[in-house]
Amino acid sequence: MKKPSSTATNLNKESLRHMVTMNDFTRAEMDDMLELMSLLKEARRDNAVPHLFKDKSLAMIFEAGSTRTRVSFETAATLLGGHALFLSPRDIHLGTKESIDDTARVLSRMCDIIMARTNSGATTKALTKMSTVPVINGLDCVYHPTQMLADIFTMKEHMPAGKKLSDLTVAFMGDATDVCRSLLLTCTKYGMDFKQIGPKKYQMQEEWLKVADKNCAETGATYEITDDVSKVSECNAIYGDSFYWTTQLDEKEERLAAFMPDYVITKELMEKAAPGAILMHCLPANDKEEVTREVLEGSRSVAFDQAENRLTAQMAILVYFTHKYTKEPSQETLKKHETRIKDFLKKL
Ligand code: CP
Repeated sequence: MKKPSSTATNLNKESLRHMVTMNDFTRAEMDDMLELMSLLKEARRDNAVPHLFKDKSLAMIFEAGSTRTRVSFETAATLLGGHALFLSPRDIHLGTKESIDDTARVLSRMCDIIMARTNSGATTKALTKMSTVPVINGLDCVYHPTQMLADIFTMKEHMPAGKKLSDLTVAFMGDATDVCRSLLLTCTKYGMDFKQIGPKKYQMQEEWLKVADKNCAETGATYEITDDVSKVSECNAIYGDSFYWTTQLDEKEERLAAFMPDYVITKELMEKAAPGAILMHCLPANDKEEVTREVLEGSRSVAFDQAENRLTAQMAILVYFTHKYTKEPSQETLKKHETRIKDFLKKL
């Protein structure tokens, strides 16, 4: 007869959740994650992060490069008492000598959670199909959910006094990137007003606007997709991202010509935004393209707080997605196994 897996984590497949897009989560669930972030950030300030990921392993698949996502997940696992494995295409067989399905099956037997930065949404979906542990999307060219948790948390930290998230209007400057798409859906889920301000050719596709329409109907949020830069005057947060991704280098010149200079976040543009507006950026930033160094390092910039909150978010994600599966052994169970193994070793 087939023996069951010995993994302590994959015990309750019925309630197994993955994080592909924040839009899969209810507002209440997102609020729980934000509250957990707040508790963990305070614990980190006191150098007292509880070891809620003790003896656990995080598999980190990176098909593409990363600074923030990699370092924040690896550091989060360590702070929580666990371990992270960095798995680039050079290190594992993913999609070459071994199928994505089998990779997910095997990693699930050994690790407690899988985080994947992939070059396509199809790869992320395939991992979720076969994994028996939670799969966290660390950016897949469609969505960037872990960035969203850090972003909403940062907005809350920097909200004008007396305001609620639903009072805010957020402008994303430029291309309909995965971050722009994720922000459209997350802001509208939180009842915020959202604008994408960019040239017509690079505006958000209809498919995603339909999803945003549903959020707006539920929360009273609005969105506007426009090429009119003067609309920043209505916005409390101006959000920047690269005008091209590493897979779009062949389009770089065409894109820069379309976006520059009108959609560059300069000091002058920030001065036209709503009073007290903040500058947000997911980073990495090209300070000679979508944003100036002056703005990035200026008093309105929260970009580096956002970056730090990636760590706050990843700590919360590791705990949120594994705590229900954690099997805490009793002292009696620990002693039983230790005695059995030591007794066996004495005979060797
Ligand atoms: N914002 C973000 O995802 O950064 P990295 O590409 O460095 O992970």
